[in-house]
Amino acid sequence: CGIVGYTGKQEATSIILDGLKKLEYRGYDSAGICTIHDGQAETRRSEGKLINLERLLVKEPIVGTIGIGHTRWATHGKPSEINAHPHQAGPVVVVHNGIIENYLQLREELRASGHTFKSETDTEVIAHLTEKQLRETGNFEQAVRLALGELRGAYAVCILCENEPGTLIAAKQGSPMVIGLGDGEYFVASDIPAILSHTRNMIFMEDGEMAVFRDGRAVFSTVAGAPLVKTPRYIDWSPLLAEKGGYKHFMLKEIFEQPRAISDTIAGRLVEEEGAVYLEDLSLGDHELKAVERIYIIACGTSWHAGLVGKFLIEDHCRIPVEVDIASEFRYRNPVVNDKTLIILISQSGETADTLAAMREGKARGGKNIAICNVVDSSIAREADGVIYTHAGPEIGVASTKAFVTQLVALYLFTIKLGRTIATIDKAKGQAMIASLVRIPSLLEKSLELNPQVETIARKYMNARDFLYLGRGINYPIALEGALKLKEISYIHAEGYPAGEMKHGPIALIDEHMPVVILVPRNSNYEKVASNMEEVIARGGRVIAVCSAGDEDIRGKAEVTVEIPRDSDDLAPILLSVPLQLLAYHVAVLKGTDVDQPRNLAKSVTVE
Ligand code: G6P
Repeated sequence: CGIVGYTGKQEATSIILDGLKKLEYRGYDSAGICTIHDGQAETRRSEGKLINLERLLVKEPIVGTIGIGHTRWATHGKPSEINAHPHQAGPVVVVHNGIIENYLQLREELRASGHTFKSETDTEVIAHLTEKQLRETGNFEQAVRLALGELRGAYAVCILCENEPGTLIAAKQGSPMVIGLGDGEYFVASDIPAILSHTRNMIFMEDGEMAVFRDGRAVFSTVAGAPLVKTPRYIDWSPLLAEKGGYKHFMLKEIFEQPRAISDTIAGRLVEEEGAVYLEDLSLGDHELKAVERIYIIACGTSWHAGLVGKFLIEDHCRIPVEVDIASEFRYRNPVVNDKTLIILISQSGETADTLAAMREGKARGGKNIAICNVVDSSIAREADGVIYTHAGPEIGVASTKAFVTQLVALYLFTIKLGRTIATIDKAKGQAMIASLVRIPSLLEKSLELNPQVETIARKYMNARDFLYLGRGINYPIALEGALKLKEISYIHAEGYPAGEMKHGPIALIDEHMPVVILVPRNSNYEKVASNMEEVIARGGRVIAVCSAGDEDIRGKAEVTVEIPRDSDDLAPILLSVPLQLLAYHVAVLKGTDVDQPRNLAKSVTVE
C-alpha cells in the first residue's frame, strides 16, 4: 500500500492524488482521500485503479488544505470501496500501510465495548482505538500515542481528527515513511517518489517515531513521548531512480525487499507458545485436513519450483504423499483425484490460465483445494476453497523473487498447520520449527550482504555459453530455480539438475568452459553433494559453490565460494535463493538485457 499526507496552504487533494499516482506501483486495488474543511472530514473512496477515484473527485470534489490519501494492496479484506482507506471512527480518520498482527483480538475487545466496524480491514481498529482514547483523554495527540501503543505488527499511519482540524499526525513502525519539508507545508509519504516533485528536503522516519504537524510546525518525538531532533537530508535522485527506491531495477529492489516480505507473510500467523500456526483464510476445518490422504501441488514456472520444495516439507513432516505437477500437464492428464485429495495451487498473480484451469479440473473431480497467492481476490484466490496469502507486496520485475521466497514460507506455515492438526508434529517440534522461521528475515539480511561479491563472480563467468546448476534433496528445486532465473533474464542457456542424476547425462557437457553452480550447504546430504562436486572438478568443470559459512573444505576445492548462514535445513532453500537471484541479476545487467521486462516473457500468463 501507499500513503500520502499533506498540510500547508495549497489544496490538499491534487497534491495527494499526484503522490498516490507515483505510489500506484505499491498497490492499486482501491484508493481513497480525506480532507478536513470547516471542521468536517470529507472522504472519497473507490474500488479499482486510481483513475476511478480521480473521476469520482471530478464529480464530487472535496476541498481543504489538510488531507490524507491511500492506494491499497489488499491484505485483510477483499478490494472494495468499504475496505478502501481512509477509515473513520467518530472524528478520527486513518490511512495505514502495514499489517496489524493483533487486530482480531483488538476488534473483539472494541466490539465488546460498543464499537461498530464497517470494514474487514485491520486498519479500522486503529481508528476505533484512537477514538476510544480520545473520548477518555480529550486530547488527540495523547489518544494517538495510547492507541499506537496497543498495536503489534507493522504500520505507517497518517491520522486526522475533526476536533483538531489543523493537526496531522504521522507515525511509523516497520513500514516505510518519509516526510518532505516545503515552504510552510509538510508532505508525508510511504516513499520518496510521491513527494519528490514538491521538495527534495526529506526526513526519514525510524521505527517508533511520530511527527505532529500543527500551526505550520512539525514536532518530532517517539511514540512513547520522548522529544526527538530530526535532520533533513537532500535527495538528488532522478524521479525514475526514486520510483525504484534508489535501485537500478525493480528486480534488485524486490530482492532486497525479501526480509520484509517474509516478515509480513509470517506476521500475525504464529502462535508461538502452542507451536502452532493460524492461517486466517484457510477455510478447511480440522476434520477436512484429517481426511486428506494425498496432496497435489500444482503451479507454473517459479511457483512450480516452490511446490517442489513443498513436497519435501509436507512428506517429511506430515507423512502424506505429495505429487507436484505442472498445471498445463495436470489439466490434460487423467489425474487420480477424489474427495480425500487436497490440491494446493501456487500462483503469485492468481491469474495464470493453466493453474486456474487445473484448479477447476481438480474440483470437478471432487478434490478440495487451497491456493497460495500473492494477489488478494485474484481469480484463483476467489475460486479456491481456501487461501494462504503471501504478503510479498506487488512484484513488478517479471522474474519472480520475493514472491517465490514467500511461497516457500507459506508452504512451511501450511506444513506446520497440517502436521499439528494430524499430530505428526508435536508442540515442541512446532515450537522449534517456528523459532527457525522467525530467524529467517535477519539471516536473509546477512545473505544480501553477498551482493558485491556475487557481482564480481558474475563478471568472471558472464561470457559462458551454458551453466549447470546442481542441488540435492530439498535444495534441488533451488538449482532448477537458479537456472530458470539466469535463463529468463540473461538469455544464457542454463540447466538445473538433481546432483545425483548428473552422472546420467549432463556430465557429458562438462569441460573447462562450463560453470557449474553447486548448492552444497552443511546438511544431511552434504557428503553426497560434495562428491558430486569432486566429479565435476575431475572433469575440468569450473565450480561456483554455494556453501555454509566457514566451510574450509569446499573453499579449498571450488573455484569460488559464496557462503550463506547455516540454520534449519528446511529453510535453507530460502537462503540459497538469494545468491542465485543476485547472480542472474548481475550477469543480465552486465550483458545489458532488459532485466525487469525480459524478451518474450510476461509477468502473468492468462492464455493457455
Ligand atoms: C510467468 C512468469 C513467471 C511465473 C509464472 C507463474 O511465466 O514469467 O515468473 O513464475 O508465470 O506465474 P504465477 O503468477 O502463477 O505464479
